[in-house]
Amino acid sequence: KLNIKGNNMLTLADYSSEEIIGLVEKAYEMKHTDHQAEEPLKGKILGMIFEKSSTRTRVSFEAGMLQLGGHALYLNRNDMQMGRGETIADTAKVLSNYVDGIMIRTFSHDIIEELATHATIPVINGLTDLYHPCQALADLLTIKEVKGKLAGIHCVYVGDGNNVAHSLMIAAAKVGMHMTIACPKGYEPNEQVVALAQGFAEVTGSKIVVENDVKKAVDGADVIYTDVWTSMGQEEENDMRLQVFHDYQVNESLVANAKEDYVFLHCLPAHRGEEVSATVIDGDHSAVFQQAGNRLHAQKALLTELL
Ligand code: CP
Ligand code: NVA
Repeated sequence: KLNIKGNNMLTLADYSSEEIIGLVEKAYEMKHTDHQAEEPLKGKILGMIFEKSSTRTRVSFEAGMLQLGGHALYLNRNDMQMGRGETIADTAKVLSNYVDGIMIRTFSHDIIEELATHATIPVINGLTDLYHPCQALADLLTIKEVKGKLAGIHCVYVGDGNNVAHSLMIAAAKVGMHMTIACPKGYEPNEQVVALAQGFAEVTGSKIVVENDVKKAVDGADVIYTDVWTSMGQEEENDMRLQVFHDYQVNESLVANAKEDYVFLHCLPAHRGEEVSATVIDGDHSAVFQQAGNRLHAQKALLTELL
């Protein structure tokens, strides 16, 4: 029994290994059992604030709340008074009177911390510039399904040391999965996040490594994961990033260095011909749509436990 009711989900770093594994197990159970009639979140409302675009996060949270018997409100920043300068603190205090939880997708991680400080209800991270914990929960579920276990699996993330890489690294360290982040010089993951993950890894026995040599990094990989080279908010760097990341494309020649039964993952949306070739993402080793589907189950587990 998980005891996390009322908690925030800002980062998986705040959760124990047991809690993370428990959430993944709960997600698996929800995926395979008919629980809709039980309506565990009947009458509960989730407010979903979006300051950036979304397909998966928005629809899976909204559909998830409905399937659990609750309701979700899509709140676009530009339609809210936040867009005209109302403070995060005031927004948090006001929304706490109306809804049972807030999911927010925003820019700086400070914004979600500020929101959580002033809200009296659980706050869930639907992606910040620093972390994407709900994605990592779905990723763990997918790896567990495809590989049968998490501890001892070697996951190689290729590309930008971004929010998705950060959450995956923390998640890996917490469950004993080895992780190599292969990225160009200057695009390594945040040093503090790497240190945090390595600290968790010491306890679970996993290895968290940052490597600039991408061929070397994917040697013997069970999982190869990539994400866009230009994240939301970095659009003006796009042309420069296309050049910097050129040799970090996940394509047939790169995956030849992985294990024969490697699985390819991507949080999506994908740019075929940039971070991944069409042959890889649309090929036999790709589990990206299973992974996208798992967002729903992982978040339903999280919502049921937190709200
Ligand atoms: N992977 C993910 O978070 O997708 P969206 O941006 O579509 O929500
Ligand atoms: N790193 C990407 C993930 C999108 C789901 C971004 O932040 O835009």
